[in-house]
Amino acid sequence: MILDKFRLDGRISLVTGAGRGIGAGIARAFAEAGADVVCAARTREQVEETCRTVEACGRRALAVICDVTRREDLEALVAAALAAFGRIDILVNNAGGFPPSPFVRTSERAFESALRFNLTSAFLLSRLTVPGMLERGEGAIVNISSAAGRLTMPNFVAYGTAKAALSFMSRELACELAPRVRVNAIAVGSVETSSLAPFLDAEARARMEALTPMRRLGQVEDIAAAALYLASPAASFVTGKVLEVDGGTERSNWPFD
Ligand SMILES: NC(=O)c1ccc[n+]([C@@H]2O[C@H](COP(=O)([O-])OP(=O)(O)OC[C@H]3O[C@@H](n4cnc5c(N)ncnc54)[C@H](OP(=O)(O)O)[C@@H]3O)[C@@H](O)[C@H]2O)c1
Repeated sequence: MILDKFRLDGRISLVTGAGRGIGAGIARAFAEAGADVVCAARTREQVEETCRTVEACGRRALAVICDVTRREDLEALVAAALAAFGRIDILVNNAGGFPPSPFVRTSERAFESALRFNLTSAFLLSRLTVPGMLERGEGAIVNISSAAGRLTMPNFVAYGTAKAALSFMSRELACELAPRVRVNAIAVGSVETSSLAPFLDAEARARMEALTPMRRLGQVEDIAAAALYLASPAASFVTGKVLEVDGGTERSNWPFD
């Protein structure tokens, strides 16, 4: 049955930024598809809430409090996952983000912290998990990138550049790690989560919807479905790709100057 190829039964997955938003949606989707999930973020109550959702699906969950910008936290995260489940089959580098900021007001420090949060964290966590995947002969990584890494728009020099690099790193790693480990990215369009909420008054929402060919904002499930596909055997012939899940956006739909 074709739907069986979308199942993750018995797989161990690790999702960063799993406390809310897209990461929480991916953790839930993976659990519904049969995977156990290591859920990582900084806010304990939110991570534990996601774990309860995973457990309600009959799967095992592990909550790990982790700041992905700190190398020692990432090392502890992988150690905790291995201690609990013995291996990591699927890694989702989801934690990321950065507020828009004009170039002439973006400090060196801010620029570097955007790279650290969106790019270096994924590099480090991949570096910590890929050796085990290679040893076992299989693994899948899904990096959560952004349409901002593909489309130019004012005020996104730090975030857009970091996400463009994350998308490219996914292709580089795919090239080097095939055929044992698949690496793909999702270029996410505007999705209704807490990171977008501060910008979404009624007028901005209407403008963004009008500028999006599918005439709506994305929902967490839109991204979770894509992540499930890329992580599952359904995508076993897919690596080094950046899947655009953005409502058909070919021009920026960001309604602010
Ligand atoms: N929403 C969109 O429109 C959109 C568009 C394009 C791309 N994306 C990308 O999608 C990903 C998820 O975004 P989202 O909208 O779901 O964000 P969100 O709703 O703000 O959720 C972010 C999650 O990441 C965690 N997090 C934040 N900083 C962290 C850190 N330093 N270490 C570990 N975890 C951290 C947060 O929990 P804590 O704060 O408790 O740690 C939370 O669980 C990001 O990479 C973002 O760039 C989103």
